[in-house]
Amino acid sequence: GKKIQIGLLGSGTVGSGVVEVLKKNVRDIEQRVGCEIGIKAVLVRDLIKKRDNLDGIKVTDNVDEILNDPDISIVVELMGGLHPAIEYMVKSMEAGKHVVTANKDAVAQSGEELFSAAEANKVDFMFEASVGGGIPIITPLKQCLTGNKISSIMGIVNGTTNYMLTKMTQDGSDYDEVLKEAQAKGYAEANPAADVEGMDAARKAAILGSIAFNTRIHLDSVYVEGITKIEAADIAYAKQLDYVIKLLAVAKDYGDKGVNVRVHPVFLPQTHPLASVNDVFNAIFLRGNAIGDAMFYGRGAGSLPTASAVLADIIAVARNMVTGNSAVVSCTCYNKREICPLAD
Ligand code: NDP
Ligand code: HSE
Repeated sequence: GKKIQIGLLGSGTVGSGVVEVLKKNVRDIEQRVGCEIGIKAVLVRDLIKKRDNLDGIKVTDNVDEILNDPDISIVVELMGGLHPAIEYMVKSMEAGKHVVTANKDAVAQSGEELFSAAEANKVDFMFEASVGGGIPIITPLKQCLTGNKISSIMGIVNGTTNYMLTKMTQDGSDYDEVLKEAQAKGYAEANPAADVEGMDAARKAAILGSIAFNTRIHLDSVYVEGITKIEAADIAYAKQLDYVIKLLAVAKDYGDKGVNVRVHPVFLPQTHPLASVNDVFNAIFLRGNAIGDAMFYGRGAGSLPTASAVLADIIAVARNMVTGNSAVVSCTCYNKREICPLAD
């Protein structure tokens, strides 16, 4: 069939990873999809910046060159932030283009608008990379586990803070130094306050809770406390008592009382399975009433791991296009649930 053309919005840590992985695995990917696939154009802010790996790809600072290009059928949003990312995604869907994103900020804040735009325009809207970096968790929740009633989710969902806490615990490293390291490795958000103040984990917790409980958890109803107040003394006390400090995201269903979603540091016994999730690794535990306990583990941030999740979404969308299957609408989350106060 005709080559499937992608427009990338953003070529930073994740965008450049997507270019690299697609290039490296293109033959296998095309076999899976059943036709040729490639990136036609990339949107950036700074046209002067030197970029590798973009031979044969048009680099532009004018989004209309992507949104108005009839050859581009999949738009991959990897710019970050709420605006103009949300407007670009909605415009893409209105133009009949499928959208893939890693933007948890946009999904957590404006999921309703984005899901509705996908439904109204009969296109796919995919966001696997928005939670857990390379770990498959959105697709399992919205497909593989939907036969269950999920009662709880508990996880380490921010790579930056887990990297920082690991280094502070294992090497006694200084907070500011390790934050700089996490930024240099491409783990942190453009504004790292979102990581250390817990907002990034809260966005992910809201997304996970919304899908798992088939409801809409608004960010405002997530209790958030980050790691900014953690000091060397806290870490030392935890160690003395055979505990480690981890930033956890927790979403629980309390039945008729409602649901509760929260993010805060906790003391975990060193024997707890989440206590040994270190460095940039993330892990998500959940409990379903059929599967029982299940755990998802892997690299929660970084260029190639995140690109792995983005590519999987691109491949799923492209495969739908080739087979003519109707669009996979991301999820509905229409069920209204009360938010109940912290219960345990
Ligand atoms: P970067 O800051 O590294 O890259 C952002 C890219 O988008 C850059 O190429 C930048 O252009 C471009 N861009 C930003 N704003 C605009 C704009 N207004 N117009 C045109 N281009 C723009 O971000 P990341 O790659 O780290 O993150 C991208 C997204 O992926 C975010 O939503 C983030 O939360 C999410 N994410 C990130 C992960 C990670 O490990 N880094 C993991 C999972 C999700 P220029 O290059 O010219 O500056
Ligand atoms: N800043 C995020 C993190 C990127 O550190 O986990 C992955 O979503």
